[in-house]
Order: sequence, then C-alpha cells, then structure tokens
Amino acid sequence: MPDTLADNPLNVGLNLNHAPQPCTLVIFGGGGDLTRRKLLPAIYNQSLEGELPANFAVLGFAIEDMDDVSYREFAKEGVNQFSRQSLDANHWPAFESCLHYLQGSFDNADAFTQLKKRLEEIESKFSIPGNRIFYLAIPPALIETCVTQIKAAGLVRPIDDNSPFSRIIVEKPIGRDLESARQVNATLSTSFDEQQIYRIDHYLGKETVQNILVMRFGNIIFEPLWNSKYIDHVQITVAEEEGVGTRAGYYDTAGALRDMVQNHILQLLTLIAMEPPWSMDADVMRDHRQNVLNCLRPITSENFNQHVVRAQYGPGFHHGEDVPGYRREDGVSPNSITETYIALKLFIDNWRWAGVPFYIRTGKRMPKRASEIAIQFKSVPPILFNADQDQPLDANVLALSIQPNEGLSLRIATKLPGAKLKIFPVKMDFRYGSTFGEQSPEAYERLLLDVMAGDATLFMRRDSVESSWVWIDNILNNWSGSGTRWIPEYSAGSWGPLEADRLIESDNRKWRLL
Ligand code: BG6
Repeated sequence: MPDTLADNPLNVGLNLNHAPQPCTLVIFGGGGDLTRRKLLPAIYNQSLEGELPANFAVLGFAIEDMDDVSYREFAKEGVNQFSRQSLDANHWPAFESCLHYLQGSFDNADAFTQLKKRLEEIESKFSIPGNRIFYLAIPPALIETCVTQIKAAGLVRPIDDNSPFSRIIVEKPIGRDLESARQVNATLSTSFDEQQIYRIDHYLGKETVQNILVMRFGNIIFEPLWNSKYIDHVQITVAEEEGVGTRAGYYDTAGALRDMVQNHILQLLTLIAMEPPWSMDADVMRDHRQNVLNCLRPITSENFNQHVVRAQYGPGFHHGEDVPGYRREDGVSPNSITETYIALKLFIDNWRWAGVPFYIRTGKRMPKRASEIAIQFKSVPPILFNADQDQPLDANVLALSIQPNEGLSLRIATKLPGAKLKIFPVKMDFRYGSTFGEQSPEAYERLLLDVMAGDATLFMRRDSVESSWVWIDNILNNWSGSGTRWIPEYSAGSWGPLEADRLIESDNRKWRLL
C-alpha cells in the first residue's frame, strides 16, 4: 500500500455518517438464481469481514420446497461457487445460523400471515428491533402481488424516526418503457414512501464507478478541464463476452437498449457528466445526476440513423470454439430481431457539454469482457510539437477501466530519450490490483450495506428511472415505427457491426481498441 494511504487512510466512503442498522433481510425469490449467485455470497462476505450489524438475520421466502436446513445447504453451495472469498469452515456455522427459509406462494395471503409470524420469531430470537428490508429478487410480473401482500399483511411501518424501519429493494428491469415503469413506481408507492424504496442498479455499487466521483471531485486537476473547451468526446464501452446464456426468456423481450443502456450506462453517464454536487446527501447527489438526464438531447426520427446502430450476433467463435448465432440460442425465437448490440451517439445540451459527442456501445458476444469510459481530450494547437499536421500528436486520453483490470490511465506525450526531439505517447497507469493488493468488494456487498444504513445515494430515484425511459422510449418508438424486420448482424467474437464503425468514423473519430 502506498505510504500516504497507510499513513492517512482517508475514509471517503459515500455513507461516511451511516452505519448498517440491525435488521432482517427478507428475500422474495430467496430460492432463485440472483439470491444464490449474488445476494447470499455478498452477505457471506460482509459477515466474514465483520461488516454486518450484530443483530442480523436473513429470511428467504419463495416457492421452492426448502426448510432452514436445506436453505443453508443452498446458501453454502452458492457461496462455494460464487463468493469473492472462499468459504471459511470456522466462520460458516455462525454465519449459517442467521439464515432461515419459509416456503410459500406470493399470491397466498396465508403465506404472508406465516411470514409475519416467522419474522417476529426471528426478530425476538436475534434481538432485532423490527427493522425490515424486503428484497424483491423476483420477475417484474410478481412485483405488484408481492407489494400488495406485504402491505396487506401489515408488514410495512410508516416512516417515523421513532419506529423501526421498513425498506424495499427493487431489482431492474423497472418497466420496459415509460408507461410500465410508471406503473411499477405507482404500485410501489401504494405501500412505500419514496424514501423507503431502493431501486438497485448494481453498476452504481462497483468500486470503479464510485471512484468516478472521487477522481473528479477529490482532485483539483481534472475539473477545470472537464468541459467542452478541452474535451473532444467521450466513449463509454460495456462489452461482454458471454452470449444470452440461460436468460433468453427475459432478454429476447428486452434487448441491449433496455437491458444495459436504460439503467447501467445512463447512470455511468450521469456520474461522468454531472455538475459538482455540494454535499454527499443522497438527494443532492441524485438531483445532480437527474439534471444530466434532463439535458439529454432527444434522438428524433430525423437524426435517428446518424445516432443509433443496433445489431444482433450471428454465429462465430468464442475462445476458439464455434458458437451459435443469437437466433439459434435456447429459448430465442428464430425470427427474433432483438438487438444484442447497440451503439449510440448522444449529446447533453447544457453549457458544460455543448457540442461534445458521447459515443456509447454495448454488446454481448464481444471478443472480451471490457468496460471502459474514455475521456478523449482535444489536441494541442498546431504549433511547436504539433506543428506537423502529417504527424499530429496523439491527444491526451483519460481511460477509466470499470472492469476487469480495474483502474485508470492517462495518456500523455513525452520526449523519447535521445539527442533528437521525438515525441512518444506514454501511459500513467493506476491499477487497483497492483496498488491495493486486495479484491474489491462486489457491488451487491456495498449496496446491501447502504440499504441497512439508510443511504440511498447509489440507488435510482423514481424521477431518474422515468426520465431515462422518456429518452429510451424515443429510440424504441423509432424502431417500432420503422416497421423493419431486418437487423444488422455481427459475428460472435467480433467488436460489432460495420455500421457502428461508420457511426463514429463519419465524425472522423474511431472506437478505441480495448
Ligand atoms: C445485468 C444485465 O443487469 O448486467 C445482464 O441484465 C448483464 O445482461 C449484466 O450481463 C452485466 O453485469 P456485470 O456486472 O457483469 O457487468
């Protein structure tokens, strides 16, 4: 660890003033995939690191036939397979004693009566003062039923400083367009106050994503340059190696725009483009992010083709093996025109960003997993070292690597050693792995602790979800309005279709090589 950090470990956590409160985490869909892969391993890691409140319990609630004993086995298997830190046999018995399970159907009011009874027993056994977090790890179609039943069973307490808290965590997708998102939000608001609702976007919990704020506002050197005077353009890439896998049922009705852009990528964009907030208060931060969404220039039918490219992966290679095209994947309609790739050019119409294009691309079955935000600065003027326009200097680039190989690098021009004046671009490089040596917590670890602490900074507020949909709906409407059944194809294992290259190259720019 660098000296300065060892001497002065700055606590720049966003929830500086908050500590996780004693509570029971009730997981609806507690027997499902998200719980097994992400939630239980996250809770296990927090427990191992002593981050959980002393009085804490989990109650999985789902249709699968399990009891406490088999649920603990289910959790153990999930931790063994997916946990960041391996299972510690000495720690496990204490950890598993806080795991419980109730089998029941979400549309059965009696099951919710049982749930209430079980919760009260657990709260009394673990001396938990009635604080409850309801995690909806369920398909969107079940949200309304669950929320209504939770309320009807008397499980929700109103916001009041003196009474225990009730909070609800909702997973994406929140709707599939503006109208359905509004419906989900309206349903949630029948039973919960906005302050009790935590809409999770796991990208906001990633260490490198939080570092965007620290980098921008914890250093003096970037902010003066962070505007249209010095920045030529910004590229955001979220490339995934995997195909649709086992999620065709959901994905084929969603596509890359809904699955990745509406939430994760627009949230990354807000952190990059927001004005400096004056406080870490959740609503101050969220107001500032919201302002970016308010300034997104709508993509219209007139400029649509210059701003949007969608495509679908065809057959190709993955790690040297033949892989099928999207339409041949299990569960995908053979006539599907769902996009597995999208490239966009967008503008933020405010004074800071006037005229600066933001290029976005995301896709499945790309050559590698690589997510990066690159700030491409303008070139120095064509004098001195940049006078020869046949050999222009490479402009500065600040590249924030979100995953894997988390870190950031700054490309700068330097003189090559020697008697002649030759200039060479070099990279100043920071990597989390080599600097801090330890694995960063998973996004879900951080976000669950924030809910226990009542810190909503890294969660999406209702207005942000709805504003994102307003902008996305424009694109969706243009697609459906065009009536086309054709979608460009790119080979699995390639960087996307030629049309996406043209989108950026027609502006005399290029996608970065990752
Ligand atoms: C999810 C999407 O929200 O994020 C998936 O539904 C995608 O399709 C995943 O694969 C990517 O998350 P990460 O953390 O692996 O980048």
